[in-house]
Amino acid sequence: IDLVVKPSGGNVSSPYMYGLMHEDINNSGDGGIYAELVRNRAFQGSKEFPSSLEGWSATNNDTKLTLTKLSTPLSSALPYSMNVAADKSSAKKLGFSNDGFWGMDVKPQKYTGSFYVRGATKKGAKFTASLQSGLTGDVFGSVEVKSKLDAKVSQKDNGWVQHFFTLVPKVAAPNSNNTFVIEFETKDLAEGTASLDFNLISLFPPTYKNRANGLRPDLVEVLKELKPTFLRLPGGNMLEGNTIDHWWKWNETIGPLKDRPGMAGVWEYQLTTGLGLIDYMNWCDDLDLAPMVAVWSGLALDGTFLSKEDIHIAVDHALDQIEFLTGDAKTTKWGKVRASLGYPKPWKVRWVEIGNEDWLAGRPAGFDSYKEYRFPAFLKAFTEKYPEIQVIASPSIFDDMVIPAPAAGDTHPYWTPDQFIKEGFNRFDQLTKQNLTLIGEAASVHPNGGIGWDGPLQHLPWWAGSVAEAIFLLGAERNGDRIIGATYAPILRSLDRWQWAMTLVQHAADPTLTTKSTSWWVWKLLGNHPIKETLPVSHSNGEIGPLYWVAGKGFKNEKIWKAAVYNSTANIPVTIKFEAGKGLKETIVNGVKKLLGIPTKATLWTQTGPGLSEDEQYAVNDPFTGVNVVTEKKT
Ligand code: AHR
Repeated sequence: IDLVVKPSGGNVSSPYMYGLMHEDINNSGDGGIYAELVRNRAFQGSKEFPSSLEGWSATNNDTKLTLTKLSTPLSSALPYSMNVAADKSSAKKLGFSNDGFWGMDVKPQKYTGSFYVRGATKKGAKFTASLQSGLTGDVFGSVEVKSKLDAKVSQKDNGWVQHFFTLVPKVAAPNSNNTFVIEFETKDLAEGTASLDFNLISLFPPTYKNRANGLRPDLVEVLKELKPTFLRLPGGNMLEGNTIDHWWKWNETIGPLKDRPGMAGVWEYQLTTGLGLIDYMNWCDDLDLAPMVAVWSGLALDGTFLSKEDIHIAVDHALDQIEFLTGDAKTTKWGKVRASLGYPKPWKVRWVEIGNEDWLAGRPAGFDSYKEYRFPAFLKAFTEKYPEIQVIASPSIFDDMVIPAPAAGDTHPYWTPDQFIKEGFNRFDQLTKQNLTLIGEAASVHPNGGIGWDGPLQHLPWWAGSVAEAIFLLGAERNGDRIIGATYAPILRSLDRWQWAMTLVQHAADPTLTTKSTSWWVWKLLGNHPIKETLPVSHSNGEIGPLYWVAGKGFKNEKIWKAAVYNSTANIPVTIKFEAGKGLKETIVNGVKKLLGIPTKATLWTQTGPGLSEDEQYAVNDPFTGVNVVTEKKT
């Protein structure tokens, strides 16, 4: 195939072509990128996932642990706590352990911890906090924490007193089967005190950029390598909640952890919301990501939705959310709240997305509540109050919705590889300037020729699926003036508890299990070479395929050609000419006329993966064997 890349004549591309989206699915937040090591740290619960002592055990037979709902709770957000009492009068030492998000990584580094306790202890009493092997009980590091309950305790916080400590293990644990333990002596309990109550027991390893309540650095680094430009937060079903009163209430995710009640997650577990709205914004700041903020559209996953009369409730919440993020710290109600939490400087929000996948529900008997009044109510309110913000509807023109101006749409192809080629590569050619579209989620999830959504997802991203995603993305890049950006979803999966197998990066408590999927590789390659402006390409082939491409100019004015081959059993010889264009200066070197500004060097990055044989075609990057089927070369 002979290709000629023209020097000009293309379109200016979105500078945000590749991003990230995050929701707490697969323990991608709690137990994932949110660095907290203690599972069920505050006994949060809901109707769907009642409070429990899951994750907690007594360290000996003398200790009795009871989940309690005191009349003097730590806060109204955290009504439950753990009572720690002696099971026998002869008990000397009481203690409890937490097994973390299925283990804890222990290294000689600084761990920062805290816990609230209520009760009375004698003068000089102390607690011992330690990191121990869950298998042998070996102690890798411990610290004594002086009890503050030996003094007169203020009843201001119902008698709860927070204790802080740092813990530096002397040695690294040989594996991640470790626990966090707190112990104390019964002789240290004050006269007449038989037990102590504990809550919000927290332990963080060093976090990314050392943020308090921050992110797990190794996972952030893996995402950073993709060179993302935006974060869709919080994306996905989590935003909506299972029932109408359980949506992701942003205002309950801000402020001190003791004031966050958590929420019933939609992916089979309770969420701490420790990773809350401000924490998402810090994530954006630390990775230089533009926030794409999702607001609740008044729809729940069970299909219920707010009536026309009540939709203003959701609209008001959304306007407040954006005022909280962007409002002036002195003159706006929610800007003041933000400032009071230590963030006087407003954030810039470029996009607001109204809901998530609203084409899937909220349409009783053909009446589309989103189209009829929910989306219009949001669009009107946002256009009036925040005309500079690009509003994005959660469906796109590909979901049977005419998106009213000036809004954009969002499309979520979860397809087979063949669909990505046949329906995907040319899909965006039909977009007009009025049809700005976000690819808010995308992934190959089912193999070709299977039963699709009637069966399970593939167990891990596989090379053919990833190459198909790449070709779809080349199609998006060719239309980069009408695409807002693209993100794979979901991005993270705990190998210990997950609901959605097809995920960009797999992780566990043991950082050596972090695995970049085949899709991570192709999204990285594309995201690391952004195109500022497309360039037209003429070619000798009548039809495009099995080689697919896009060409353009990069942000350093370098010329870029990106291509992928799908489903070919033969090599495809290619020649590419980059036409120089007019206006280049001439010079004479040794009597020979030369054009200045013609590059003499090119760099080629290639990724190759397994072939098409029965054995090879579903090969994956396997977290447990460490096999990586993708080879990247730079020449
Ligand atoms: O990414 C997993 C889920 O897929 C998201 O929560 C939802 O938006 C989509 O259906």
